[in-house]
Amino acid sequence: MQGLKKMNIFAAEAKQKSVPNEETNPSHVDARLDIRHHGDVTDYQTIGSPFVDDAKMSARNVDVFYAEKQAIIDVSLDIGRNEVLAMIGPSGCGKSTFLRSLNRMNDIIPICKVSGQITLDNVNIYENDQDTVLLRARVGMVFQKPNPFPKSIYENVAYGPRIHGLAHTKAEMDEIVEHSLIRAGLFDEVKDQLDKPGTGLSGGQQQRLCIARAIAVSPEVILMDEPCSALDPIASAKIEELIDELKEKFTIAMVTHSMQQAARVSQRTAYFHLGKLIEVGDTKDIFTIPRHQLTENYITGRFG
Ligand SMILES: Nc1ncnc2c1ncn2[C@@H]1O[C@H](COP(=O)(O)OP(=O)(O)OP(=O)(O)O)[C@@H](O)[C@H]1O
Ligand SMILES: [Mg+2]
Repeated sequence: MQGLKKMNIFAAEAKQKSVPNEETNPSHVDARLDIRHHGDVTDYQTIGSPFVDDAKMSARNVDVFYAEKQAIIDVSLDIGRNEVLAMIGPSGCGKSTFLRSLNRMNDIIPICKVSGQITLDNVNIYENDQDTVLLRARVGMVFQKPNPFPKSIYENVAYGPRIHGLAHTKAEMDEIVEHSLIRAGLFDEVKDQLDKPGTGLSGGQQQRLCIARAIAVSPEVILMDEPCSALDPIASAKIEELIDELKEKFTIAMVTHSMQQAARVSQRTAYFHLGKLIEVGDTKDIFTIPRHQLTENYITGRFG
């Protein structure tokens, strides 16, 4: 409801702005020309503002192939420090593939090849000497389906800090575990059962446990791939609130199929289509005055 309200507010604001048309806005003409060629691999330009002043991560001319098949085509995109960037687009357009390239999770798929440049704080994460375990601690990931380890709630959260040697005493570890569970909005619900299996929690609690596990190693960026798609609306609302709080400290890139969710939690939205980054900009603008026909089709539910 709240999200819909927000969308209505956006819509009202949009009415006040002049909606771009082909006569008044040349870039809109480009957008329409581009539509005719959207099946082409070459020769497209992302519409909007892929770059920001204070980028935490930057992708430049990124291509991703699964063997011969190209899943990401020449994508350049920044993720701003302490922003929530939402990635949307029809199924199979490459959102997860792009997200996974941001912490080299694609490395574990043997046929997957990533080219172009991706930097974290201006350092190329695809340098040969990059320690991927360390990288994934700095750029953590939360998956679509909550996947707690078959261990206690405590051990789920303590696992990362232990392998990275972040606690020297039991008291220090207790503090990391408690602090992470508090930040993930789960502590009050589980504080009396920390020794019980994480898999025994509800779906929404398990997802918050996975978020606690991700933040326990103090990452700088958190990648979330449809973190609420397996949750009911109440559990989703809790995760959304949490994402809003987490952005104070972390940079977040989130794939979502819910446009209301993207509108509620993100500051910028990137729209992907057939492996291309078609349009990116302020969330408010993307949902009210999309400039590319493909974006408009998607957000108005004409496909996807
Ligand atoms: N492990 C893989 N091996 C081969 N092809 C893959 C693999 N993973 C993804 N692909 C292909 O890459 C393309 C992009 O897939 P991806 O999973 O990134 O899309 P998506 O936008 O996340 O879709 P969804 O919304 O359904 O999750 C698809 O054509 C898909 O079939
Ligand atoms: Mg996906």
